[in-house]
Amino acid sequence: MPLYWRIFLLNGVVLLAATALLLGPVTVSTPVLLTEAAVLTGGLAAMLVANALLLRVGLAPLERLTRAMTTTDLLRPGRRPAVSGHAEIAELITAFHTMLDRLEEERATSSARALSAQEAERHRISQELHDEVGQTLTAVLLELKRVAGDAPPAVREELGQVQETTRGSLEEIRRIARRLRPGVLAELGLTAALKSLTTEFTHPGLSVRHHLDPDLPPLGRDTELVLYRVAQEGLTNTARHARARHAELTLRHTASGVELRVHDDGGGIGAAPEGAGIRGMRERALLIGARLSLEPCPGGGTDVRLTVPDRNS
Ligand SMILES: Nc1ncnc2c1ncn2[C@@H]1O[C@H](COP(=O)(O)OP(=O)(O)O)[C@@H](O)[C@H]1O
Ligand SMILES: [Mg+2]
Repeated sequence: MPLYWRIFLLNGVVLLAATALLLGPVTVSTPVLLTEAAVLTGGLAAMLVANALLLRVGLAPLERLTRAMTTTDLLRPGRRPAVSGHAEIAELITAFHTMLDRLEEERATSSARALSAQEAERHRISQELHDEVGQTLTAVLLELKRVAGDAPPAVREELGQVQETTRGSLEEIRRIARRLRPGVLAELGLTAALKSLTTEFTHPGLSVRHHLDPDLPPLGRDTELVLYRVAQEGLTNTARHARARHAELTLRHTASGVELRVHDDGGGIGAAPEGAGIRGMRERALLIGARLSLEPCPGGGTDVRLTVPDRNS
């Protein structure tokens, strides 16, 4: 029965009962007697309570739907209101589910496009840094070496320092280029790439350890890239926000799939709102059907976990 008629009927029943009472045992005289006023007030209160209860029961599915609509987050799929209620309400809930399916699909397509554009852009910048800036600095180094060879001893020493600085910059540029495009990932695989990520990850006061399971099922290229990027963002967040002394990167094969874990002993994530970094992790996880969780560690600190189900291997 349509919602309109259900509400109309419920109200009708309440009003009919009231009228029947007025025609039967209840009478009103002018001026109103005290007992009559009491009976009328009681009757009105009972009518209002009955109406409120009936409306609440009838509209509960709508309320559930409204709550679901306001709390739905496309980056965390799965939680949906159950389809219940009658005709129109059930139809509305089903329509909402269909809309969510479509939105989730569109979101997945567009974030796949955005992420692959981002990777391509990183690739290009990395290549330019390596080829252009890297080559120029290498040429400067060679030139400095040549000039230093012909220079008087006092100048030679100063030139030596300039050489050191230039060499440092060259190293830094190569490191940035590697971070932008993890060439080792394509060449040597995920374990080697994660190992070099942790060993190259230096931050004052923070020591990073890694436990990388050598026995992993073969993972697709996309999956490996997602695991790498999540590890990278997890460690960057630890260095940037956690004020931690130790961090650990673990990659292992569990019963539920391949699990990547970055955890630290810092101040914990608290109620900090999620920024572009965490949203990026969620988008990447969705892309390969993996599950991402960010939770506080029992002894303080943050625990980031990405679980890739085995069917992705
Ligand atoms: N390991 C961590 N320890 C403590 N706080 C964290 C950690 N990781 C993330 N956060 C908090 O979560 C927020 C959002 O992180 P993120 O989405 O990566 O954005 P960003 O790093 O750009 O600030 C951070 O600003 C920080 O407050
Ligand atoms: Mg971040």
